[in-house]
Amino acid sequence: MVLGIEGTAWSLSVGVVRQENGETEEICEVSHPYIPEKGGIHPREAAQHHSSHIADLLRRVFEKVSADEIDAIAFSQGPGLGPCLRVVATASRTLSLLLKKPLVGVNHCIAHIEIGKWETGAENPLVVYASGANTQILALKQKRYRIFGETIDVGLGNALDKFAREVGLSHPGGPKIEELAKKSSKYIELPYTVKGMDLAFSGLLTSALRAVKNNPVEDVCFSLQEVAFAMLTEVSERALAHTSLDEVMLVGGVGANDRLSEMLSIMCEDRGVSYYRPAKKYLGDNGTMIAYLGLKMFLVGIRTPLDESSVIPGFRPEMVEVVW
Ligand code: ATP
Ligand code: FE2
Repeated sequence: MVLGIEGTAWSLSVGVVRQENGETEEICEVSHPYIPEKGGIHPREAAQHHSSHIADLLRRVFEKVSADEIDAIAFSQGPGLGPCLRVVATASRTLSLLLKKPLVGVNHCIAHIEIGKWETGAENPLVVYASGANTQILALKQKRYRIFGETIDVGLGNALDKFAREVGLSHPGGPKIEELAKKSSKYIELPYTVKGMDLAFSGLLTSALRAVKNNPVEDVCFSLQEVAFAMLTEVSERALAHTSLDEVMLVGGVGANDRLSEMLSIMCEDRGVSYYRPAKKYLGDNGTMIAYLGLKMFLVGIRTPLDESSVIPGFRPEMVEVVW
């Protein structure tokens, strides 16, 4: 049984996962999200939030599972906000020393992918990973998740959140933009920026903010979504052609958006490939995904010694060899 701690940004969450007779089971998950009072995520405040709540979350987990049932402590080692990652790593090291159980440092992006594969049954998908800080198209090649295309400036979720904030909507903005976009079907032209296999969202964001000065906000939300999601769909389609994969899976917090999901699923239908999207609770950051990947890694013998447990804010998925 593996306990996993997630805390790369807004979500502080502890999950416990077990494997029995080859079947993986979720045992419990307790979470306490950081929701900024105003503005976006402030790294130091988020870290302060995590350090104020981690002990209580662990206490609640240990009301449900006994400490000696735990075989390892998994934690999100990166990528993420340095101050947040350090709180999680410190708590994990302490727990590991206290319980005398090994540590397993987990890559947060790969955790999104692996829990998605587990929940949807996708076997070897092209992954469209769209979250706050990250927007990447990946596929497993020669034992590593390689990035075929990605944002060259901000993550899609962060662009949506920033737009929302500037027009007076509260954080996180993605779901609020989705609701407003449903009230419009009037397209306002906004810049579409795909460079080779890469994407850029900052020009789109600036133009959307300019457009809102003389257009109804619903129309701008609609257009912003149409352009950003079409960009992502185009790059995904080209990555599909390039890799010849026959599955596509959407993961990450922005994956909760039904219009994005619809565009990708239409593209997949046109190409005759299967499309997968995990349940909403696995799309955003959660402790269960860290416990789940930690368990897979633990079962093939991977351990993270204390002197290798430093946080890795710029942890890229291709840095990890997929040996599970
Ligand atoms: P990562 O470290 O993987 O980048 P994260 O900290 O950004 O993760 P996630 O939970 O994966 O966290 O994603 C959060 C993002 O998802 C936020 O930017 C939020 O606005 C966006 N989001 C959530 N729901 C929706 C939605 N329905 N439509 C669009 N965006 C959404
Ligand atoms: Fe995430």
